[in-house]
Amino acid sequence: MRRVIVAANWKMNTTPADAGELARTIAGRTRVDGVVRIICPPFVCLGPVGDAVAGDASSAPDGSPVLVGAQNVHHAAAGAHTGEISASMLAGLATWVIIGHSERRRDAGETDTQIAAKLVRAWSAGLRPILCVGEVLADRDAGRADDVVEGQLRGALAGAPIPTPVHDAGADLPWLTIAYEPVWAIGTGRNARGSDAAAMAAAIRRTLDDLGIEGAAVPILYGGSVTSANIDEFLAEPGLDGALVGGASLKADEMAGIVARAGTTAAARAAHATTG
Ligand code: 13P
Repeated sequence: MRRVIVAANWKMNTTPADAGELARTIAGRTRVDGVVRIICPPFVCLGPVGDAVAGDASSAPDGSPVLVGAQNVHHAAAGAHTGEISASMLAGLATWVIIGHSERRRDAGETDTQIAAKLVRAWSAGLRPILCVGEVLADRDAGRADDVVEGQLRGALAGAPIPTPVHDAGADLPWLTIAYEPVWAIGTGRNARGSDAAAMAAAIRRTLDDLGIEGAAVPILYGGSVTSANIDEFLAEPGLDGALVGGASLKADEMAGIVARAGTTAAARAAHATTG
């Protein structure tokens, strides 16, 4: 059964002085069974956020903790890369990592080759990647969205040494999660339609299958102007497994609403699995 995941991407917001308090507040207001909650703060806030969410007050009634993710990792293991952070540096600070976000493709010129190498670094350090893909508006308007996303997936994952099975039964967590984030929907207040995101999720799973990765086992999140008011549209789609939330993830009220809705999906999936 694929997990239901809500990941907060705080982007370049919060400071070491205030991130812990925000994380603690969000954790306390999202204590919902069955949902994988992940907070991805800036690198310098990983420690404060990890400290803030450690302990029972942050865990859901089912005991699941808030997990901590980084927003990026360098593609080299170590060396002369001033200002960069390697996968091994994240040990003890993060267990997840966002890779290939469109803002990094845009701002840092990240290539598919680098993104493929980042995935390898993440897995070898025991980090669980959330690989971001998505088209720009011109591609969607030209009917090329599926092709662009397929190209990004092939560029990042062809021949990748992905741990198998892709659903890690021991931890009941995936070794690969995909976030479909149409670039035109990020930070614009203009979200994709749930049905369009679901169609893209189906296309993504076909590509994964073609690459020899079991698509049915890989959670696919939607990202792009997700709020508590529109999350239902995405979680009503059986092919979508949660959200990667940007702006709204800095607001405890919004996260409470989003995770509560995710809990409904998680409970329905658990009931379905039990009754067969
Ligand atoms: P917004 O939710 O602010 O549109 O950002 C989405 C995103 O980029 C998450 O990674």
